[in-house]
Amino acid sequence: MNEKCKCGNEYKDEKLEKILSKYEKNKSNLIQILSEVQENYGYIPENVQLEISKYLGIEMAEIYGVITFYSRFTLKPKGKYNIAVCLGTACFVKGSEKILDRIKQKLGIDVGQTTPDGRFSLEATRCIGACGLAPVFTVNDEVHGKATIDMVDKVLDEYMKKD
Ligand code: FES
Repeated sequence: MNEKCKCGNEYKDEKLEKILSKYEKNKSNLIQILSEVQENYGYIPENVQLEISKYLGIEMAEIYGVITFYSRFTLKPKGKYNIAVCLGTACFVKGSEKILDRIKQKLGIDVGQTTPDGRFSLEATRCIGACGLAPVFTVNDEVHGKATIDMVDKVLDEYMKKD
């Protein structure tokens, strides 16, 4: 678990060591380990994937496949404000694509990207269980239901004013 620092010395990623120490070296623990890494780091860095690969004896390609299969795992850091637009059936029927397009336009990023200042990231999700409020988007844990273009403008303008 040692990494080379830019200065040439090795240092330990204690956060990762703590996570791995909870799990036996068994392939079946991969998803749980990735979940904890995602939660603690906000994404799954490449050097961490490498350490997991060594620890569990799994090929990097297999780990990459799992990360890209599950939408809750990300390879890049999310923004301070992560915006998720539900594209589940109920939301889609009620126009969530237009909501998504508006957010893309306002932030100048596509799904899966983060603004250069690191403040906003955008993702598309499956049903989040709030179909009665369709179309729905979230900003971190805050749910915005019965969304309209005007609402998107208002909500994003407010977040843009924040730190
Ligand atoms: S389809 Fe969007 S919340 Fe269920």
